[in-house]
Amino acid sequence: MVGNGGREHTLLWKLKADAPSAEFFATQPNGGMASLAEGVEISPGDTEALAGWAASRSIDLTVVGPEAPLAAGITDRFRAKGLPVFGPSAAAARIESSKSYAKELMRDAGVPTADFRVFRDLSAAQDYVREQGAPIVVKASGLAAGKGAIVCEREEDALQAVKEMLEDLRFGEAGREVVVEECMRGEELSVFALTDGREVLTLLPSQDHKRVGEGDTGPNTGGMGAYAPVSLVNPELMREVEERVLFSTLQALEADGSAFQGLLYAGLMLTPEGPKVVEFNCRFGDPETQAILPLLTSSLLEPMATIAEGGSVAGMEARWHSGGAVTTVLASDGYPGGYEKGKAIHLPSSLAEDPELFVFHAGTRTSGGELVTSGGRVLAVTGLGGSLGDASRKSLVGADTVDFEGKYFRTDIGWREFARDEAGRP
Ligand code: AMP
Ligand code: GLY
Repeated sequence: MVGNGGREHTLLWKLKADAPSAEFFATQPNGGMASLAEGVEISPGDTEALAGWAASRSIDLTVVGPEAPLAAGITDRFRAKGLPVFGPSAAAARIESSKSYAKELMRDAGVPTADFRVFRDLSAAQDYVREQGAPIVVKASGLAAGKGAIVCEREEDALQAVKEMLEDLRFGEAGREVVVEECMRGEELSVFALTDGREVLTLLPSQDHKRVGEGDTGPNTGGMGAYAPVSLVNPELMREVEERVLFSTLQALEADGSAFQGLLYAGLMLTPEGPKVVEFNCRFGDPETQAILPLLTSSLLEPMATIAEGGSVAGMEARWHSGGAVTTVLASDGYPGGYEKGKAIHLPSSLAEDPELFVFHAGTRTSGGELVTSGGRVLAVTGLGGSLGDASRKSLVGADTVDFEGKYFRTDIGWREFARDEAGRP
């Protein structure tokens, strides 16, 4: 397992449940992963060293969690050594690592997405912003750790945003090129598809909560919680997403010589005109993975290994628990701004004994035999339940029980779903 955040802990936990007798290794594992896998002291970003290490150990399957090593070509290095690896090539990972590439590919393939233009020149970008007016969205084209998209309600904010990206290089190289696009309105939906490049095994759609505060207020974060399933989704919508978004995009990537094998993440906006793509990612979402995988009763290892070995997922199906899952992220006070690290974490044993509660580690590490905080997002507590309401209660009880100084979490994960229920809508 390459990577050491909450997503990677969850993937590792699921793969180990699928293959309990297999041997697992993880790069610089966090405090939760350390009990599931032997640590490998190579940074997730050191793709060359990882390929060498995996070759020396004849590793049967490598799963890459984060986007940065994928964009840096880890898959290409592993493939060159004949090592099975789950994750797209650097060329295919451009669907995430270059927003301009993704937008142009979508436009050429007729995939529904916001209208846009790409700029490298400041005055041209500002002219376009003035011509379009607000609201409007400005995005750094390259990887910006989820912070590179700025939704501007006022024209002057957009003029400022393009200046900060193109002139002040606020996002470094990632912002030397910007995408300026139409502002869409609607609810967001995360759709994950395991794909061999042509066929897809689509997972249960989920909804992320990116803002730090209750009711989706305050600054954006890496994600404060997620839930699944989402009742806005019906088979007809999923067919539309598969046909108009997933298959069209995969065909365009293949035609471009960049067939995508791995996990294709479509971030969608459910607009009045139908689903439109907000962004693609080339890997699992965090924290959506923490909500989805505990609901998956069929194997994840089987489709992943098949894809990594160049096989087809045609005819494979995923099976799910009938209820729902709610994931509450426990963060360090101050996140996404500055926060303190090294706080002792107390995890009561009652948590581990409850089969409907899962604690996934993100920013934790073990120091002198003690578990301490080491990041902004520290843990994710997933509750399962027969209904989403039960899952939410379970997640919150778990979140309350965990103890560390400066613990902060949202108590309203899934609120859109509960608001829908109260209004009597499906
Ligand atoms: P991204 O980094 O592209 O995922 O964007 C981060 C967040 O910004 C998304 O999850 C949306 O909430 C918002 N966003 C991005 N693009 C748009 C858009 N064109 N219209 C409205 N909101 C957007
Ligand atoms: N949950 C958003 C992401 O993983 O990019």
